[in-house]
Amino acid sequence: MVKLAAFGAFALLSLASQVLAQTTVKVMPFGASIVSKCWRANLQAKLKNSGIKNFDFVGSLSGTCGGNGVDQDHEGHSGSLATDYAKNGNLTVWLDKNPPDVVIMLLGTNDVLLGKKPVNDILAAYDVLLSQMRAKNAKMQIIFSNLLPLDPARWPQDGVNGIKTLNSAIATYAPRKSTAQSPVTFVDNFAGFDAVSDTTDGEHPNDAGNEKMAKKFFQPTVNAVQVVARSRKLLKGKRVTSVARREAMANEVNEGTKESTV
Ligand SMILES: *[C@@H]1O[C@H](CO)[C@@H](O)[C@H](O)[C@H]1NC(C)=O
Repeated sequence: MVKLAAFGAFALLSLASQVLAQTTVKVMPFGASIVSKCWRANLQAKLKNSGIKNFDFVGSLSGTCGGNGVDQDHEGHSGSLATDYAKNGNLTVWLDKNPPDVVIMLLGTNDVLLGKKPVNDILAAYDVLLSQMRAKNAKMQIIFSNLLPLDPARWPQDGVNGIKTLNSAIATYAPRKSTAQSPVTFVDNFAGFDAVSDTTDGEHPNDAGNEKMAKKFFQPTVNAVQVVARSRKLLKGKRVTSVARREAMANEVNEGTKESTV
C-alpha cells in the first residue's frame, strides 16, 4: 500500500511537470518583409516585462534583432505575396515544420504594391491561409493586422491608395472570420503610424515604428497566449484528476485482492 501510494504520487508529479512544460505557447509571426523587422523583439520585451514568459516564437527564418535573449524565429519572407502563398501552399509547409498555437499575421503590402492584385483576390488568398491554419490547428488564435501606410513621396499613388482600400476591406473581413474556437483578432497598425517618421524607407518600420507595432500587438498577444495556456491547463487538470482517481481505485482493488488472498 505504501509503495503503491508512493508510485501514485510520483506519477502525479511527473504529470504535473509535463503540464508545466506543455504550457509553452508557440507564436508564429507570419507575412513578408515587414514581419522580418524587429517589432518582434520589442513585443517579446514587453511580454517578458509584464511577466509573460511561457511563449516560444517559431518559424523557419531567423532574424538578427538586438536585445537580450531575443527569440529570432519568424516566417516573414521578403517580397512575398498572400496570393502566392495561397497558390503555392507555402504556409502549410511552415505550419507542419513548426506548429504554432498563435499566428501573428501582417501580409498583403506586396500584393498591392508589386502584384497590383484586386482586393477580392487578396481576400480570397486570406481565406485559403486561414483555412490552412485551422486545418493544422482547429483552435488557432489568429492575430490579423491591417497594413502599414506607405509614404506617398516614395511610392506610387495607386500603391498608397491601394493599401487604404485593402485596409478598409480587412477591417470588416477580419472580425467576420472570427469564431469562438479560433478567434481572429483585428489589429490596426495603420492608425497612428507615420509612413515618414516611423519607417526607414517609406514602407518598413524603423525603431520608432517597431515600438508602435509592438504596442499594438501586445495586448492581443497576451490574450492569445493566456487563452492557449489556460485551455491546456484545464485539459491537463482534468486528465490529472481522472488519472489520480483511477490510481486510487486501482490501489483499493489491489488492497482488497491482497487481503483476500493472504
Ligand atoms: C513557396 O512555394 C513555392 C513552390 O514550392 C516556391 O517556389 C517558393 O519559393 C516558396 N516561397 C517561399 C517564400 O518560400
